[in-house]
Amino acid sequence: MQFETILSPLLLPLYDLQGKTVVVIDVLRATSTICTGLFTGIDHFYAVSSPSEALELQKKGYLAAAERNAVKPDGFELGNSPFEYLNSELKGKKIAFTTTNGTHCIKLSLGADEILIGSFLNLDAIAKYCIDKKKDIIAFCAGWKNKFNLEDTLFAGALASKLIDSFSINCDSSLAAIDLYNAAKSDLKNYILKSSHAKRFEKLGITKDIEFCMQTSIYEIVPRVINGKITL
Ligand code: MLT
Repeated sequence: MQFETILSPLLLPLYDLQGKTVVVIDVLRATSTICTGLFTGIDHFYAVSSPSEALELQKKGYLAAAERNAVKPDGFELGNSPFEYLNSELKGKKIAFTTTNGTHCIKLSLGADEILIGSFLNLDAIAKYCIDKKKDIIAFCAGWKNKFNLEDTLFAGALASKLIDSFSINCDSSLAAIDLYNAAKSDLKNYILKSSHAKRFEKLGITKDIEFCMQTSIYEIVPRVINGKITL
């Protein structure tokens, strides 16, 4: 079994997703938020490309959630902070969700055999699932507007480190991700504070979201995309 890492959505055409499991990674914050919402008891998220599509689904009983440039646009019930999804009143709700990078990458992965949603919050559960499943894995880092980012690469490195005894890891992007993770793991949160997205959060006064998203393996869940719906 092979483990590969895609460091930016622009590199996706170089990889064949067929027959493989893709782990979509947008640690800050879309995949962390999805994990939090599903752990709270949301029925499913439905990833859409644009805010207008989310607002269309609002008319069909969905709550509309959106983020652009890390901010919730006007007219939406929910944004992309995991704290908003800790609310037990969301139990059983359906969420139409669009974010700058994370939901975009979920939609780009639809040719894969299986799509999983990965974040530090459910790292161990994802690793165990991948080991049990015995299929080739692609860790797909959402990055920021097609650019490489630190936080998603760190997660790819953390996952690869957990799978190293069960998978062949020969691709240089995975090896680089492992090295980055090893360099940062003793103080992951402070390392991530260097990142460009962390600087964006500082300006918006939402650094507490980073602390939340860097908690490791607090949820034993493996969100999957099933018939377009992100669910447990
Ligand atoms: C995204 O999908 O682009 C991110 O989750 C951005 C954010 O932090 O809201």
